[in-house]
Amino acid sequence: MFDSTAEPALRLCDVEVSFPVRRGFFSAAGKLHAVNKVSLDVARGEFISIVGESGCGKSTLAKVLLGLQPVTSGTIQINGKNLADYSRKELAYQVQPIFQDPYSSLNPRKSVAANIALPLILSEKLTAREIRKRVHEIMEMVSLPIRFEHSYPSQMSGGQRQRVAIARALITRPRILVCDEPTSALDVSVQAQILNLLRDLSRRLNLTSIFISHDLSVVRHLTRRVAVMYLGRVVELGDSEEIFNNPRHPYTQLLIRSILPPDPTYRLPPVTWDGGGPDPTNPPPGCHFNPRCPYATDLCRTALPALIKAGDAHVACHAWHDIDAWRAAGGKTPQLS
Ligand SMILES: Nc1ncnc2c1ncn2[C@@H]1O[C@H](COP(=O)(O)OP(=O)(O)OP(=O)(O)O)[C@@H](O)[C@H]1O
Ligand SMILES: [Mg+2]
Repeated sequence: MFDSTAEPALRLCDVEVSFPVRRGFFSAAGKLHAVNKVSLDVARGEFISIVGESGCGKSTLAKVLLGLQPVTSGTIQINGKNLADYSRKELAYQVQPIFQDPYSSLNPRKSVAANIALPLILSEKLTAREIRKRVHEIMEMVSLPIRFEHSYPSQMSGGQRQRVAIARALITRPRILVCDEPTSALDVSVQAQILNLLRDLSRRLNLTSIFISHDLSVVRHLTRRVAVMYLGRVVELGDSEEIFNNPRHPYTQLLIRSILPPDPTYRLPPVTWDGGGPDPTNPPPGCHFNPRCPYATDLCRTALPALIKAGDAHVACHAWHDIDAWRAAGGKTPQLS
């Protein structure tokens, strides 16, 4: 269980990452805000999910936490210390990644044991015998039979390769795991095994885990808290069950609707996917979701909503109260304006 009163393992304060972009050959350079003023505390031992559609900034945020992407502005603290003040080696002992495709993150020319041991060899002066012992311990922890130690990644299944990647991430005994779509490249039958493994390891080792997914149905029973991102911003944050049972942001409603079977009694607005939403290099003024939102008012088209407390969750929507009331009263379905 995590302690929400203690200093957070991770504290993001107004984190912004923008990239210079050119919209056309003759047009002036613009900016793409991949991550836009994200503030978030993650408690020690917490397992939190970040969800949102492709391009909303999930991987950019993951890279920031891993020290692979500098921020344009804002601060990140890891266990009370600024991320920028950690050396690369110190950071590797705090935060480790698990990426989507284990095949490209492992070295195909090195054995399983050598792949797992790589972070140790780079940073600790251990004897070959000590390293082998640590590798065996960690292989056991991720349920990889020791007989695979001399195998090569190409000789293993996708699920086994992801276990190798998890073992390698854990060998430095980090405090924080950043998992960027760790099961998206795996067969459905293997996905659940890897998800369960990550959840069990997080509990057993009291890790703080950030789990990134584009799929709300994957995270529903996996994590207690969920942050929903839209065009670089967190638009809803709250307990997983609360978000599923009572989604307040119209975008969260849209995400949930897209994974549920059609149900006439589930009162959500009739919004359908419209091909990916606005251009991230030129987001609409006001709430970035307003062109897709059936509730949008003039305020939504002009003023950007802040993430504020809304019932048991936090939501960035000017209309959340009216939407709640509308849903509670079973009112008529609004039409897209
Ligand atoms: N190095 C870069 N230079 C320019 N733009 C970038 C760069 N990296 C990411 N972007 C842009 O930033 C936005 C966020 O990208 P990111 O990879 O973080 O999205 P994502 O949520 O992980 O998407 P997906 O679900 O497809 O993995 C996208 O519009 C992307 O094109
Ligand atoms: Mg991504």
